[in-house]
Amino acid sequence: MTSKYSFPNDFLWGVATSSYQIEGAHATDGKGPSIWDTFTQLPGNIKNGDTGNIACDHYSRWKDDVATMKDLGVQAYRFSISWPRVLPTGNGPDINEKGLAFYDRLVDGLLDANITPYITLYHWDLPQQIQNQGGWPHRSTVDLFVNYADIVSKKLGDRVKHWITHNEPWVVSTNGYLNGHHAPGHKSWGEALSATHHLLLSHGLAVPVIRNNSPNCEVGITLNLCPAYPASPSIADQQATQQFDGEFNRWFLDPLFRGSYPEDVLTTHLSKKRIMSSDLSFIQDGDLQKISTPIDFLGLNYYSRAIIRSNEIPEEENTPVEINPGEQTDNGWEIHAESLHLLLKRLTIEYPIEAIYITENGAAYNIKPNGTSEIHDEIRIKYIHDHLIACYKSLEDNVPLRGYFVWTLMDNFEWAEGYGQKFGLIHIDDATLNRIPKDSFHWYQRTIANNSLNH
Ligand code: FCB
Repeated sequence: MTSKYSFPNDFLWGVATSSYQIEGAHATDGKGPSIWDTFTQLPGNIKNGDTGNIACDHYSRWKDDVATMKDLGVQAYRFSISWPRVLPTGNGPDINEKGLAFYDRLVDGLLDANITPYITLYHWDLPQQIQNQGGWPHRSTVDLFVNYADIVSKKLGDRVKHWITHNEPWVVSTNGYLNGHHAPGHKSWGEALSATHHLLLSHGLAVPVIRNNSPNCEVGITLNLCPAYPASPSIADQQATQQFDGEFNRWFLDPLFRGSYPEDVLTTHLSKKRIMSSDLSFIQDGDLQKISTPIDFLGLNYYSRAIIRSNEIPEEENTPVEINPGEQTDNGWEIHAESLHLLLKRLTIEYPIEAIYITENGAAYNIKPNGTSEIHDEIRIKYIHDHLIACYKSLEDNVPLRGYFVWTLMDNFEWAEGYGQKFGLIHIDDATLNRIPKDSFHWYQRTIANNSLNH
């Protein structure tokens, strides 16, 4: 029977995680330190002094976690590789065979369970040694990433056919190098801009290498995009919105899919911040062509929209705010599912994108188990349900949307927020690390089984 919200038969249902957020075993079996190992040890960086040293102990419990995913019924699992687990100093040829073997077993375990692996190569845990040499703001990191991508795709490319080079380069450069909220905690416009460029360049150069090692694979990149709306019709708010959109969204989409950085950001917005063209000398001839190497899909992480109010509104334009944010999740992100639908349509219209996966979507709700160790998180179910309706509408509008990954399988280390923000379908007991599926787990299980929202 087809119901109102039946998804296409080949629509892919998945869950996503990342290495530092779940693995633990931060110094086990030859793993080298990452910038997150260093950053979390410094007091004041992470709420509550939390670290990923143990995290969900997935490194030891991965078999149980795969069995749980099989029970959930997901067809795909997006996870990331810890670069310093494979290459302790970041550089080849010193491969840590034990580290690589962990991912080898995980991939085989997933395939045995009929779950397709989607590998993210870089989800933020840069080897500390590479940061010591300058990190992403330095061009030498580009070649190191390509070498790492080569080693991993050579080893796993016979079985893994879906590759994501980077997760959210905006976050890496902005939080890591501009506002200092994430590792390595730097605060420099110049570093943030060159980090972005090198992340994108390393993506473009890794694509053919991965394809070569993994015949008939699909390669893409994951961006966090945030649709922006002016708070009022005033010119100042509209300009501020264009600027936000340029720096947040088009600064990544344009080079990847058009081979150029957005002109308005280059000429107007950066000069407002006193960043001169000479400061952009890290962009070398031919780079943009490499960055725009055609890819097979875009991974989209969507959580919220932004409502933009200019902080420099001239008196005569001081139009009252017309859009106010609606309800928020527990980490203060506004819930706005319809913006996902509009964003997906916009992407399809403005850029030559062959296929899109929602590689992350989910909500922080800090609901604890009640006395019977059940977790009633209807509110998360509603969030995911409403965003899946946005996906459904996008499919009706012919957006080439291929699948959806919930962020995240289980509560985990939420970066600077520590363990306080809970996005998981599964609760982790603080003391025992036992896994307790939440109501949202069972709801997602039924959704996948029915391939539909009507159940
Ligand atoms: C994204 C990250 C992911 C997780 C979610 C909540 O920006 O990719 O690791 O932290 O936000």
